Amino acid sequence: MLLTIPALLDAARVQQARAMLEDAPFVDGRLSAGSDARRVKNNEEVRPDDGRVAELNRMILGRLYAHPVFQAAALPRKLSGAFFARYRPGMQYGTHVDDPVMGPEGGRYRTDVSVTVFLNEPDTYDGGELTIETEFGEQQVKLAAGDAVFYPSSSLHRVAEVVRGERLVVVAWAESMVRDPARRRLLYDLYQVTEALRIATPQAEATRRASHVHANLMRMWAEL
Ligand code: NI
Repeated sequence: MLLTIPALLDAARVQQARAMLEDAPFVDGRLSAGSDARRVKNNEEVRPDDGRVAELNRMILGRLYAHPVFQAAALPRKLSGAFFARYRPGMQYGTHVDDPVMGPEGGRYRTDVSVTVFLNEPDTYDGGELTIETEFGEQQVKLAAGDAVFYPSSSLHRVAEVVRGERLVVVAWAESMVRDPARRRLLYDLYQVTEALRIATPQAEATRRASHVHANLMRMWAEL
């Protein structure tokens, strides 16, 4: 399941993030990649120990974590730190699958859900599409500044070469309470049904039933 969150960041927050990243220390993105990804990765990332990373992390991932669609569909248990990646002309990220386990010793997490938040407007750069292989074919994603996309970390994906301008994004990962993407999909579909029923017929028996089933499926599948 690939979902987008339009305007996760409003224009002011996008502006603030871009301004803070303007003179941030970008280093070779291969430093943070596993051995498989390193072979195809060609971008730059802000050094993770930079002070701006922590501040932007709180602002951006705080909003992501609190977002009702992310809560209902990703069912996050742990969220990684934010990585700030930049692609300048000639840079790309070839087809790869994200590392299954990330984080430092003592703070490891399984990557179940991959997130990208776009920080530059799509008409300011050419190329740089995020292409994700899904069971129904490839899906290309290049969203407005402030929008987010998330998808199962088990998916093969790539970032096309940037040929003009600059692609600036935030990437992050979540470990989910429900590791199986098919189960997360069912829970999210049922959540949407339940929400619609709560609005249309809050007192109805069907509303209580739908909510009851959702809660008990979570109880059955959640790992903490
Ligand atoms: Ni990736």
